[in-house]
Parts: sequence; C-alpha cells; structure tokens
Amino acid sequence: MWTKDNIPDQSGKMIIVTGANAGIGFETALALYEAGAHVVLACRNLGKANEAIVRIKQSSGAGVLEAAQLDLGDLNSVRRFAETFIKQHLKLDVLINNAGIMIPPATKTVQGFESQFGVNFIGHFALTGYLYPILNSTPGSRIITLSSMAYLYGKIDFDNLKSEKDYEPMREYQQSKLADLILSVELQRRITAKGDGVLSIAAQPGANKTELSRHMSVHAYKEAVERVGELMEPWQGALPSLYAAVSNEVTGGALYGPDEDGGYRGYPAEATITANALDEDVAKKLWKLAEEVTGLIYPAV
Ligand SMILES: NC(=O)c1ccc[n+]([C@@H]2O[C@H](COP(=O)([O-])OP(=O)(O)OC[C@H]3O[C@@H](n4cnc5c(N)ncnc54)[C@H](OP(=O)(O)O)[C@@H]3O)[C@@H](O)[C@H]2O)c1
Repeated sequence: MWTKDNIPDQSGKMIIVTGANAGIGFETALALYEAGAHVVLACRNLGKANEAIVRIKQSSGAGVLEAAQLDLGDLNSVRRFAETFIKQHLKLDVLINNAGIMIPPATKTVQGFESQFGVNFIGHFALTGYLYPILNSTPGSRIITLSSMAYLYGKIDFDNLKSEKDYEPMREYQQSKLADLILSVELQRRITAKGDGVLSIAAQPGANKTELSRHMSVHAYKEAVERVGELMEPWQGALPSLYAAVSNEVTGGALYGPDEDGGYRGYPAEATITANALDEDVAKKLWKLAEEVTGLIYPAV
C-alpha cells in the first residue's frame, strides 16, 4: 500500500500544482511541501491561494510555498502565469494539471469554449505548452494530468465544443476528463517520438469528498454516493497524483488511480486505459484543434 510516507525527499524540486487551494490539489501541495519541495500554488483566486499557504504552513514541512494567479478559463491568464514563472524560475521538475470544474451552469471560457472543456482541457493544454521548454530542460521532469473515472463514459463531440448544439453538464464533464486523459497519453506518444526525456502521466483520484460537487443538487449528490459508495477523504484522493509525481515505478503514458472498487477507492496502482482514450485518430484531431486554438506547437519539432 503506497501512502504519502513513501514520498522520497523532495528538497530542491520545483513543482506547480494548479487548483491547489482546495480538495485534492490542496492535499497534493501539502504532501509535497511536507516532503521539502518548492510548491507553486497556481490558483484562480490569489486570496484563496494565500489562505491555503497559511493552512499548509500549520503542518511541519521543510518546503517553500508560493502563490500565483492562474485562471485556466482565460488563455491570456495562462500565458501571463507561464511567462512570469519562466522569468522567475530556472527549472520545473513537475507540473500537476489538477484544477477542474464539474457540471457548472452553462458558461463559456473567455475564448468561447464550453467551460468544462475550456478549463479542464484547453487551459491545461496551453499551460503545458507554455511550460514545456522549461520542463524539457529540467532532467527527470514530469507532467501529471488529472482525469476521472468519468472519462470511461466520455466521447469527444467536435461539433459541440462551444455548446453549438446544446449543453448537458455531466456529458460535458465526461468529455473534458476524457480529453485530459487523451492529452496525457498523446503527449507521451509525441515526447517519445521526439526523444525528449519528460514523462507525461495521468492520475485519477477515485471518489472523494471535495468542493467539486459544489454544483450538484442535494438529491444528485445522494444519488451519486449511492452509486459509487463511500467517498474518500481528499488526502487519499491525492495519492495517485503524488505517486505519479514522485514514484520511480511509473511509466509515461500510463494512468494511476485507486486500486479497489473498480477505481473509486483504495491506494495507487496502474489502471487500464479504455479504447475511447487510446483512439489515435481522435487524439490527433483533438491535438490539432488545441494547437490551433492556443497557437502552441509542442513538443517542438
Ligand atoms: N473529487 C473527486 O472525487 C474527483 C473525482 C475524479 C476526478 N477529480 C478531479 O480532481 C481534480 C481536483 O478536483 P477536486 O475534487 O479537488 O475539486 P475542488 O475541491 O472543487 O478543487 C478544484 C480546484 O480547481 C480550481 N479551479 C476551478 N476552476 C479554475 C480555473 N478556471 N482556473 C484555475 N483553477 C480553477 C478551484 O479553484 P476555486 O476554489 O477558486 O474554485 C479549486 O482550487 C479535478 O481535475 C477533478 O476533475 C476529482
């Protein structure tokens, strides 16, 4: 059973966690701080990031904490965050693409995408692209992208990414989490083809008590708990991300998640990736779209 006690000393490691002020991102940042890492909490609300730092510092840790503003729903914000990071830091060991939203009311990102696709996928695609050069120049670096069991039911509808047809909140969440997994797997394919040393790894946290359910009705929440069973505390949901970020047992292109109850509970283990996330034609099409939208081509040829 792998727990945060297995995390090796992270002194000297520079790590970015998106959405680190709450839930799984908070627990991820906390554990890495306790292990001695320099953690950048990249959050859309700087006040919440600073409050999270105060809470993390109540724990005994030898790390360094830094708050930074990042709104994944606005590509200008993503660019500004990355440019500032690159100006201020010489290396990046791990990027953890953790932030996410689930079933919000119908809204769009600044660039016009359905908000879950835009924040969960396009924002992280752009962030990864801007930071790829500094990751690639850091030996042993990793990119961890959070998916979800919801990806199993996902399908990319290329004709509805800006809600051109309609908006179904859970369907769009499933699509965005499938897109995140495709991003992680396709990025590793491209890294391998190019011969770069970065690892791209996916994690899924199982079922956890976090603020992700903030847009669920009480009835829908009860139904979900009945369907998936007891929810884990977020420290446990953070373990797959932590495992992917620090373990020497991981493989690029793989997915790690809890090992029990079909992936909803337990401790980190490699999970099977289903066909919908391994379709290379869909991956190429999605990648091309994201390149066109963001203007970012990576790994650079
Ligand atoms: N909880 C689960 O059981 C579960 C299951 C499967 C997958 N996941 C995945 O795990 C990840 C973390 O979710 P969580 O459960 O920890 O949820 P959470 O408690 O709601 O935390 C989500 C984090 O993402 C941030 N965020 C939202 N929109 C953002 C934006 N536009 N720009 C930057 N940051 C933004 C939130 O910031 P604010 O606080 O400012 O809103 C918050 O820090 C997500 O990718 C989610 O899909 C969670």
